[in-house]
Amino acid sequence: MIYSLAYYSTSCVPGLNLGSSGEIMKILRVARSRNRAAGVTGALLFNADRFVQVIEGSKTAVDEIFASIQRDPRHSHITVFMTEDKSERHFETWSMAFAGRSAEALKYYLYLTRQLGFRWEDLDNPALCQMIFTMMNFDRMGHLSI
Ligand SMILES: Cc1cc2nc3c(=O)[nH]c(=O)nc-3n(C[C@H](O)[C@H](O)[C@H](O)COP(=O)(O)O)c2cc1C
Repeated sequence: MIYSLAYYSTSCVPGLNLGSSGEIMKILRVARSRNRAAGVTGALLFNADRFVQVIEGSKTAVDEIFASIQRDPRHSHITVFMTEDKSERHFETWSMAFAGRSAEALKYYLYLTRQLGFRWEDLDNPALCQMIFTMMNFDRMGHLSI
């Protein structure tokens, strides 16, 4: 069984925007090596002042990594909006995928999040993962995927 957890949080990194991804690269570098070692996969979505992340793996590994993530001062107001046991991973080949860096992805994100009644809590796991995959595709078309 694969345990999957999703949360959103508010970024505390000053000046973080589409043009400055230095801090994001740092987060991804650590996340990717640590997740790989722990058999954890997932995706990080970033837009202006918000992080959304899905992490999946054994419950023990996910809980341990999430405990570190919660202690990280680079974000606050961490809200878990989904936990699920499922039979397969969504991000099989990604120790940590990254979505949301391109202007196209931002437009799509704003379109979705400004839709009347949009609430993260209402997304189920497949819908959230689909949203992240779509944003990754927009990034790829803009050659900005990292
Ligand atoms: C938005 C965000 C997402 C993160 N995602 C991960 C992750 O998936 N895996 C990971 O090991 N660390 C991740 N980190 C980094 C951890 O918070 C932490 O700095 C790192 O794991 C080192 O853990 P430690 O401080 O307990 O030694 C993330 C940090 C932020 C701000």
